[in-house]
Amino acid sequence: MKVLVATEKPFAAVAVDGIRKVIEGAGYELELLEKYTDKADLLAAVANADALIIRSDKVDAEVLDAAKQLKVVVRAGAGYDNVDLAAATAHGVCVENTPGQNSNAVAELVFGMTVMAVRNMYNGTSGSELKDKKIGIHAFGQVGRNVARIAKGFGMEVSALDPYCPDEVMVEAGVAPVHSVEDLYKNNKFVSLHIPATPETKKSVGYDLLMMLPKNGVLINTARKEVIDEEGLQRALRDRADIKYVADIRPDIADDLKAEFTDRVFFTPKKMGAQTSEANINAGIAAANQVVAFLRDGIDRFRVNK
Ligand code: 3PG
Repeated sequence: MKVLVATEKPFAAVAVDGIRKVIEGAGYELELLEKYTDKADLLAAVANADALIIRSDKVDAEVLDAAKQLKVVVRAGAGYDNVDLAAATAHGVCVENTPGQNSNAVAELVFGMTVMAVRNMYNGTSGSELKDKKIGIHAFGQVGRNVARIAKGFGMEVSALDPYCPDEVMVEAGVAPVHSVEDLYKNNKFVSLHIPATPETKKSVGYDLLMMLPKNGVLINTARKEVIDEEGLQRALRDRADIKYVADIRPDIADDLKAEFTDRVFFTPKKMGAQTSEANINAGIAAANQVVAFLRDGIDRFRVNK
């Protein structure tokens, strides 16, 4: 049986070695398709694959049609908005993610970008510190919880909004539960976004919420660009000269924002949150183990489609 690792943005070599050990150790063949720029390459490689390991690579109906032998897709990471779940179900393909495996890496980048924002993108002018400031975490999942842990190390006051997470879980982590999105944005100078991109959350953060941020507010987005209403973001940055936006996912209008707001915005050139050797090893090897568990024993503990 063939396991295809298709990563437009490759894992660290050490993670690929670990994945190979798991897959070949189980008696399966491993094929690597890295840095592909043409979807046709993915369509060709997937034709005789029994399992597929991906990152943010798009798996749509066309890919699933081409993958005649495919049984399982494991997204080595948290968000699976890049996979057409309904099409996978229609094709009888199990889809899984590897929750938590790359969350510390993403959380650390939140602070890499936050410090950069309050130090005015390191432009030499006088900035400010994070100690004693308030940070609101928008969704208290695995990444959000790591953000809370690190924020406490900075001496920040932490609160979070997450209708799917019981208040007790936050309280136990020393985080104040917030019950409305308006309160989260109104009361926190820093807001860190960790909501997934779903039909409900798309464009859900825009002008009105940004305008509620306290003076010198910073919105940090290491989640998905789709959750931002970019036109609203642009208007808010225009109307509030004190606020900043830093993101690990380039907005569609990144060039316009950069030209207009210069040091008040920052975007990584490519999504870097999970791009550490540790996260690659954790998520990549977890994905490989999940593939083996599925192919060999039918275990689908991390299945995300019905
Ligand atoms: C995730 O959903 O796990 C992160 O966004 C990381 O995505 P990546 O594997 O494409 O870096």
